[in-house]
Amino acid sequence: MKFSRRLAIIAALLIAAGCSRESKDERIVLGFSQIGAESEWRTANTESIKAAAATSNIDLRFADAQQKQENQIKALRSFIAQKVDVIAFSPVVATGWDTVLMEARDAGIPVILTDRAVTSDPSLYVGFLGSDFVEEGRKAGRWVAEQFATVAQDVNIVELQGTVGSAPANDRKKGFEEIIAANPRLKIIRSQTGDFTRTKGKEAMEAILKSESRKIHALYAHNDDMAIGAIQAIEEAGLKPGQDILIVSIDAVKGAFQAMIAGKLNATIECNPLLGPQLMTSVTEVVSGRPIAKRMVVEETMFTMETAKQHIQSRKY
Ligand code: AHR
Repeated sequence: MKFSRRLAIIAALLIAAGCSRESKDERIVLGFSQIGAESEWRTANTESIKAAAATSNIDLRFADAQQKQENQIKALRSFIAQKVDVIAFSPVVATGWDTVLMEARDAGIPVILTDRAVTSDPSLYVGFLGSDFVEEGRKAGRWVAEQFATVAQDVNIVELQGTVGSAPANDRKKGFEEIIAANPRLKIIRSQTGDFTRTKGKEAMEAILKSESRKIHALYAHNDDMAIGAIQAIEEAGLKPGQDILIVSIDAVKGAFQAMIAGKLNATIECNPLLGPQLMTSVTEVVSGRPIAKRMVVEETMFTMETAKQHIQSRKY
């Protein structure tokens, strides 16, 4: 074979190889900064996002921030440097995002918020997909108000808050307080953070049980993991969770259903973590230049220990 013909074949092969790499590169690149793995909810959320990216053929660059805002900011800056097509993230706290969001805007990269909101100017992101946390707090408040509707004495409530400064902790507190304000007998006597984890929920409840001399009638935990941790603390203190202290929490993860079936958790308010498919649809729309809704709210319900058994099999997380 002549040298020139061999060169032409090599060139054709290189072009073909280049083309196939190019078609691989044509996939949408999504940079996603996850908060961490603090709860059962978060694990389900991560799995949903990874699975939906794979089925949508989206090239997902996933970064775990281990519950630290500085790690999330670093991840967002790295996505900007990588020139990804879209950035999505679940912000650990609500404030402190303006600078990095402006950097993304200046780089022409659209940002979608998932799960949690920020206090930044809404023009800095294209959409926000997630639950209505205030409404979740209201549902928990209504449930507590109903349980003690006919009780004449003061009802002492302990609140375990989520991560300080996070949208769900702020909003779930707000919604709950809004409802119980209608009944002056319902009193939050102690409120402490458990950072959305089982370990810290247990520690916080232990400390409260040790230092509180008043009877605790109800516990409101901002998520199921903290309620599950608190249940252990209540049992170790020689009390019966679900009976001596009524407990309501938020998420409706499998662990909560198991606790309800065991009679230790009275109710859980659903917070749906399966945001992956809707996020990938939004990402595709944004890249195609089509508008997406600024606020996409997830439909949710609630479950009590009376009906837990009939629902547990159909739960997906
Ligand atoms: O932002 C959603 C909350 O974060 C979930 O309720 C909680 O379990 C998680 O850690």
